[in-house]
Amino acid sequence: MRSILWILLCLTILSANVQGENILGVFTSPGKSHLIIFMSTIQTMIERGHNVTVLTTIPIPNMKANDSKTFRHIHLSSLDLQPSEMSKQISALVQETNFNNFVKTMQVMANLQRNALRTEKFKQFLQENNTFDLMLLGYFGNDYLLGIGAHFECPVALITLGGPAMGPIGKFIGNPDEISYVPSPVLGIQQPMNFLNRTKNFIINIVQTIAQHYLDYLMNGFYEEHFPKDKYPPLSSLQQNVSIVLSNHHFSEGPIRPDVPAVVEIGGIQINDKISKLPDHLSKFLDNAKNGAIFFSLGSTAKSSDLSPETIKLFFNVLSKLPQKILWKWDDDEKTPGKSDNILFDKWLPQNDVLAHKHIQLFITHGGKGSVVESQYHGVPMVVIPLFGDQTFNAKEIEEKMYGISINHKTVTGEEFEKVVNEVLRNKKYLTNVKLFSELYQDRPITAKENAVFWMEYVIRHKGAHHLQSPAVHMNFVQLHNLDVIVVVVLLLLLLKLVIWKVFSCSWSYCKPKEKSKIQ
Ligand SMILES: *[C@@H]1O[C@H](CO)[C@@H](O)[C@H](O)[C@H]1NC(C)=O
Ligand SMILES: *[C@@H]1O[C@H](CO)[C@@H](O)[C@H](O)[C@H]1NC(C)=O
Ligand SMILES: *[C@@H]1O[C@H](CO)[C@@H](O)[C@H](O)[C@H]1NC(C)=O
Ligand SMILES: *[C@@H]1O[C@H](CO)[C@@H](O)[C@H](O)[C@H]1NC(C)=O
Ligand SMILES: *[C@@H]1O[C@H](CO)[C@@H](O)[C@H](O)[C@H]1NC(C)=O
Repeated sequence: MRSILWILLCLTILSANVQGENILGVFTSPGKSHLIIFMSTIQTMIERGHNVTVLTTIPIPNMKANDSKTFRHIHLSSLDLQPSEMSKQISALVQETNFNNFVKTMQVMANLQRNALRTEKFKQFLQENNTFDLMLLGYFGNDYLLGIGAHFECPVALITLGGPAMGPIGKFIGNPDEISYVPSPVLGIQQPMNFLNRTKNFIINIVQTIAQHYLDYLMNGFYEEHFPKDKYPPLSSLQQNVSIVLSNHHFSEGPIRPDVPAVVEIGGIQINDKISKLPDHLSKFLDNAKNGAIFFSLGSTAKSSDLSPETIKLFFNVLSKLPQKILWKWDDDEKTPGKSDNILFDKWLPQNDVLAHKHIQLFITHGGKGSVVESQYHGVPMVVIPLFGDQTFNAKEIEEKMYGISINHKTVTGEEFEKVVNEVLRNKKYLTNVKLFSELYQDRPITAKENAVFWMEYVIRHKGAHHLQSPAVHMNFVQLHNLDVIVVVVLLLLLLKLVIWKVFSCSWSYCKPKEKSKIQ
């Protein structure tokens, strides 16, 4: 009887807790991997029973929620926003992620997203008399979209794609950059920094600040086009009005740095932490892998045909001779690279659940961010075959952190591939490093999803939660670095010195003429 009462009480509390707030997700960044992170964040709110509206420029990948009473998806598509046209532009850009193209990349991304605001659908959406309790903005060079939050007069939370909350995002919430010991993400320098690296970091910081001023200028132009001065506050005041930043980062990834309370770590939110049971044929295959198993997948964007048939044959020849079982993601049932007892080809493999299987010893991957994070999460060492875009950079990072080795698919030979696979399988340093990271990454008081939900609802409960804002947000460079105080203190010291000197020299010169007169 008591337990029934207890359950009833819990149910009442639970249902009373969730009031079904109206939440708006603005995820116009035209990247599939971006959308996965943004959608994973808002998915937690859909599951909590909130009423969610989402604006995107590309279709939502692996969409679980469907248009329903409490979920609405507005796809801001137009001719120049066609997926094929956009992905062409994006992949051309992602090729050049180095710093020289930083400004250009941001400029083009901003342009693409701006086109979304010019669509009829968007204009109609603004005309509807909706009210929202929270807006989530997927942040990617789109500050001007803060105007949507101003339009609905609701609190705003940003979701970032990765890395600690520094640079422009840090500035919104007054997060200190601490450039003397926190390296800029674009440099790829590890902590601690020596003098030379600190100098590099200092200089890159100045360059970034200048680039940021240029971007701010662009953003202001975009903003004023859609949110005219006479009806909306200036963009700068919206940038200072961001409630929290949901940062897709965890401190265990480094660097070590201080964060203000408005930074909420949700690193790894896209990883499904509940492992589902594998389909029967897969679990049978992997459970029986006495000598361990290797998972081979080049992701969902690239086709098997993107690699030359010779390279595929070469991979097959090496893998078919290994004692391990191989699970190979392959799109074409008809034309597999060959037949071998230890290899299972399959079109559709639940990557996260496969990586979680205890017999998986190695992941051969294209190095897409999503795959890399899942592999690191489950502590599986990698052989990376980067195909395009940021995958080259991810591969480099994996080598640097010694979670695996990267190979070039254009030049690789059979011997090299065999050597690399065996090295990662046999040399325990790769497994040890990535396992250690996995343990540290997963060791948290609450999961990334729970943390995100708590803080989003916190912001709603406290109408923007502006009490947790750092005063640094409203201070200028001079005030923030106490330059005015330093100048005044130095001036006072100089004055004091002058006074002391005057008094001293006065009394001295007062005596002197006396002596002189004596002599006279
Ligand atoms: C949404 O639901 C409709 C009908 O229930 C179905 O036809 C459609 O495929 C679903 N869409 C997605 C993305 O699941
Ligand atoms: C929104 O509200 C305004 C003013 O109350 C009204 O004129 C307008 O027709 C409403 N629009 C819609 C789509 O309901
Ligand atoms: C969900 O939110 C939208 C936008 O504010 C609103 O139009 C709709 O009526 C809401 N639906 C429910 C069930 O509250
Ligand atoms: C700042 O955000 C709050 C909601 O959190 C809103 O009521 C207020 O109007 C915003 N201020 C400006 C200047 O946009
Ligand atoms: C700067 O940092 C990099 C990466 O951590 C390191 O390899 C390099 O040796 C450092 N530079 C100097 C001059 O020590």
